[in-house]
Amino acid sequence: MTFASIEHAIAIPYQLRVLFTENAFATDNPLLRNLLCSKESGSRRKAIFYLDEGVAAANPQLVPQIQAYFQHHNEDLNLRGIHLLPAGEPIKNNTDYLKEIYAQIEEQKICRHSYLIAIGGGALLDTVGFAAATAHRGIRHIRFPTTTLGQGDAGVGVKNGFNFRGKKNFVGTFAPPFAVVNDFAFLDTLPEKHLRNGYIEAIKVALIRDATFFDWIESQANALNAFQPAAVRELVHRSAQHHVTHIATSGDPFEMGSVRPLDFGHWAAHKLEQLSDFRISHGEAVAIGIAIDTLYSQKMGYLDQASVDRILNLITKLKLPTYAPELEQKTADQQNATLAGLEEFREHLGGLLTITLLKQIGQRFEVHEMDTEKILQSIQDLPR
Ligand SMILES: NC(=O)c1ccc[n+]([C@@H]2O[C@H](COP(=O)([O-])OP(=O)(O)OC[C@H]3O[C@@H](n4cnc5c(N)ncnc54)[C@H](O)[C@@H]3O)[C@@H](O)[C@H]2O)c1
Ligand SMILES: [Zn+2]
Repeated sequence: MTFASIEHAIAIPYQLRVLFTENAFATDNPLLRNLLCSKESGSRRKAIFYLDEGVAAANPQLVPQIQAYFQHHNEDLNLRGIHLLPAGEPIKNNTDYLKEIYAQIEEQKICRHSYLIAIGGGALLDTVGFAAATAHRGIRHIRFPTTTLGQGDAGVGVKNGFNFRGKKNFVGTFAPPFAVVNDFAFLDTLPEKHLRNGYIEAIKVALIRDATFFDWIESQANALNAFQPAAVRELVHRSAQHHVTHIATSGDPFEMGSVRPLDFGHWAAHKLEQLSDFRISHGEAVAIGIAIDTLYSQKMGYLDQASVDRILNLITKLKLPTYAPELEQKTADQQNATLAGLEEFREHLGGLLTITLLKQIGQRFEVHEMDTEKILQSIQDLPR
């Protein structure tokens, strides 16, 4: 007796929604209420909030505003708690925080039709997103990124992640959030260093997809250095647009293949973050990683010198780093420690090593091996 195999394709339509607003928790701003009520429900919509402690400290009115908002919309909405969590990478390194979130979800009877709302930097969104994607196998999740990096890149994607054994994002899932709300008012309290971190992900996406956007960022360098809201907001909006379009149209939203253009410059960046014990922020590390892969593209004869100069000048002009002493760290067998980032990147992607490089500004291509000597020369030649 033989049994025929059973196979069926499953197509699941996802809607990747990024909404833009200012002061989402003003009682006369209907955006969040309408979002929470956009799906049919027999009862008031339950929501539990997780706030980045740094954001809450910089916005002391935030907790009372959320309470007032839910009170104002009491007929439709049901607030099940507001919890503060530590900011930045430490939250992604400690499983106690995940356990805390799971426990609160269970205690508050947050079901698959309820909402887990996260407000904060990329690290908090990654952690809460992971909890939302895994508790009950997936609770509706709304993200409010509060950094330029989050609003333009980290927060608008479909990934979440948690660090394990010192490895960035070793644990995580692909889970499109119910919606992303980019509230520009949060950027008013964001420290300058973090404002700049979002600039580099915009430069990255311009380098791999859109030379015109790169020209625009160059033309706005003074305005961006002065943190003029119009320039910062346009940069964030265009960056988010590119990231979402890439995810939605590249044919590989859940990264089944090994091609990862949005990770241009990231193989070295992830390693640097780790080597520095996260002293170097993600944005700073990406700036250095992009500088390395730009110089490498030139040394291999792919990219012309004039483009290299433009890229390095723009990074420097926006006061982002192009070098860190951690790049000189050696392993026990006297190898350059940054180079181990290549193999770790391959492991993380799975399959064949695939690195995105540049042919021109706005035009990328992929290679499957890198010349170690030329990487080391690129590191030597970094502006410092
Ligand atoms: N999931 C993804 O696809 C993806 C993509 C890129 C990056 N990431 C992750 O994102 C993280 C980096 O995120 P990040 O750059 O947003 O930094 P972050 O989460 O480390 O936060 C930066 C700091 O700024 C503070 N802060 C945030 N918003 C503020 C505001 N509006 N006002 C005052 N202070 C504020 C935070 O409290 C924190 O101290 C990294 O863990 C990275 O791996 C994830
Ligand atoms: Zn990044």
